[in-house]
Amino acid sequence: MARHENLLLLLSSSSSLLLLLLFGVVLTCAVGAPFNVTHLAFHEGYSHLFGEGNLVRSPDGKSVRLLLDRFTGSGFISSDLYQYGFFSAAIKLPADYSAGVVVAFYTSNGDVFEKTHDELDFEFLGNIRGKQWRIQTNVYGNGSTSRGREERYTLWFDPTEEFHQYSILWTAKNIIFYVDDVPIREVVRSEAMGGDYPAKPMSLYATIWDASNWATNGGKYKVNYKYAPFVSEFTNLVLQGCTVDPIQQLPAATCSEKRSALEAADYAAITPARRAAMRKFRQRYMYYSYCYDLLRYPVPPPECVIIPSEKQRFKDSGRLKFGGHHRRHSKHRNHVSEGSSSEYQSDA
Ligand SMILES: *[C@@H]1O[C@H](CO)[C@@H](O)[C@H](O)[C@H]1NC(C)=O
Ligand SMILES: *[C@@H]1O[C@H](CO)[C@@H](O)[C@H](O)[C@H]1NC(C)=O
Repeated sequence: MARHENLLLLLSSSSSLLLLLLFGVVLTCAVGAPFNVTHLAFHEGYSHLFGEGNLVRSPDGKSVRLLLDRFTGSGFISSDLYQYGFFSAAIKLPADYSAGVVVAFYTSNGDVFEKTHDELDFEFLGNIRGKQWRIQTNVYGNGSTSRGREERYTLWFDPTEEFHQYSILWTAKNIIFYVDDVPIREVVRSEAMGGDYPAKPMSLYATIWDASNWATNGGKYKVNYKYAPFVSEFTNLVLQGCTVDPIQQLPAATCSEKRSALEAADYAAITPARRAAMRKFRQRYMYYSYCYDLLRYPVPPPECVIIPSEKQRFKDSGRLKFGGHHRRHSKHRNHVSEGSSSEYQSDA
């Protein structure tokens, strides 16, 4: 009986691995060549934000490591603020045990507009060995922090093994989050969103920090500094868009040109192939969406596009009806007796 079950588990996990691999190939083929963008050296667009000594530049100045140890995390910030832009980096996440560690790649103006800040987030929620990594995107406009717009996903690859490109496009018309060249989320600005659509100048941030009390299952897993330092690496740095003086708030004269260039860029167009890849990604890897969380938002916020085939996968809590393949994984780990690690997956 037990052996039989083990075999089934083995079969189902290897077939889901195969599907995962196939799907990765399909996603990659569907969208074609990466974006045509210029990569910056660190000093050309960014500066050290916090964590003395825990930001380490590569000898050629094009890459940077952000470390978290028991004394501090670390971070960097773009030297300019942008009013609309394309923000991108290839990121490699800390390997092995990183529960409680959060790596964030985001735009914000919280330093300039404390009460009415805007923010666009990629958050990588730390992991325990052998689990699938989970990432979160979020959007806040004009201090709308009481109206979270979170979505959470797993990935079709292990983000600790190699660099993958994560990008945020922000224009006056829409916001697109990309993983490599797959758009994973689009927010189209609508009149009804009002100030909830981010519109004030923002800086780009990258940080690594101890989120023991926040990220991993409500703090059940603390950062374990036995595995420190936790190292995240950033390269292929891209900043495009119009830089704005935060004090004067007057866009530089060239802004309209830069905004047109942004809207005309390759990454601003969701081609039919990209749209298909986005659908597939969301169908397979999204495991929470605020748009389907009817307990929180009985009427979904105005920008939500309700796709019936997508909606039917979710309960009224915005979480998946069935655990999907990661539920099976946690069961599997029970079998190889890593004990309570299955409790880690409470989001499914
Ligand atoms: C890439 O961008 C550069 C500069 O914007 C342009 O000159 C070049 O033609 C572009 N290449 C392709 C393949 O589109
Ligand atoms: C942003 O919030 C402030 C303070 O609540 C409000 O006065 C302002 O009108 C809002 N702006 C937009 C564009 O909604």
